[in-house]
Amino acid sequence: MNQTVRTRRFIEPTQPAARAELPSGDVTDGVVRIGNTVRRPHQPTSFAVGAYLDHLERVGFTASPRYLGQDAQGRDVLTFLEGDVATKDPQPWVLTEALLASVARLTRDLHDASAGYDPSGEPFPVRPVRQDPFELVTHLDITPENVVVRDGQAVGLIDFDLAGPSTCFIDSFNTAMHWVKLKDPADLRGAWSGVDQLSRLRLFADAYGWLDHERRRLPDFGAERACLSWERMKHNAQNRGGGWATMWSEGVGDVILRRRTWLLANADAIRSALLD
Ligand SMILES: Nc1ncnc2c1ncn2[C@@H]1O[C@H](COP(=O)(O)OP(=O)(O)O)[C@@H](O)[C@H]1O
Ligand SMILES: [Mg+2]
Repeated sequence: MNQTVRTRRFIEPTQPAARAELPSGDVTDGVVRIGNTVRRPHQPTSFAVGAYLDHLERVGFTASPRYLGQDAQGRDVLTFLEGDVATKDPQPWVLTEALLASVARLTRDLHDASAGYDPSGEPFPVRPVRQDPFELVTHLDITPENVVVRDGQAVGLIDFDLAGPSTCFIDSFNTAMHWVKLKDPADLRGAWSGVDQLSRLRLFADAYGWLDHERRRLPDFGAERACLSWERMKHNAQNRGGGWATMWSEGVGDVILRRRTWLLANADAIRSALLD
């Protein structure tokens, strides 16, 4: 049985700590830093995530925040990870090959650390649109805005709101999608426009350690995942509103469908880049 986090209370230090706003992501309002902690609104997944973070701490994985409990206002309290985090229109250092390779290695390290974790003691809520197959619990949202970087290397993963049961290949594909990036080149914006997608994909694949059968499967697998992402985004936009609805009204659904078309139209070139 995993340790439960349901009743954990965070005791404030006696000295008041400095408070700072943090850059807002797409979805969560009101994330603030207080001293060496981050306060985030409590989520339906918070207890499940807290128990998973406890597991990562127990097995010695140092690249995730520690869950410290809930403060007097009921907010989740997590440790602050020192370093740089990309903003939406990223700084040039976000695109280096060295960082991409380190993100792939960190994703692999997370999977190794997560293997064998049994979430049944503090289960994740059932996803509203189709469950992923269960191989392990993992992050599932390793975007540039959710990775902490020091000296050009990925050293931290934050924002476990989408964490849950899934597979290594789904999570690593998802990470590659955000970092390579895997989308129609016409949808690459700002600093991302013109990146060499195929050579970045190969670099990621080698650094993570995708097997040959995974490399061969990637375009079709990515196309299937695009259909599912489209359904999930639409569901969240309609049922959860907020940042989800904003992203949907800004056309994220069409970007996802263009990714699907691009993966299928370039399937041979993608497989050659991964296997030759
Ligand atoms: N534990 C943490 N350590 C360091 N920075 C954090 C931490 N948690 C959040 N941040 C900062 O706050 C930003 C927004 O928090 P995040 O948890 O990613 O919320 P959102 O759901 O809005 O994306 C992050 O992109 C990062 O810059
Ligand atoms: Mg985030």
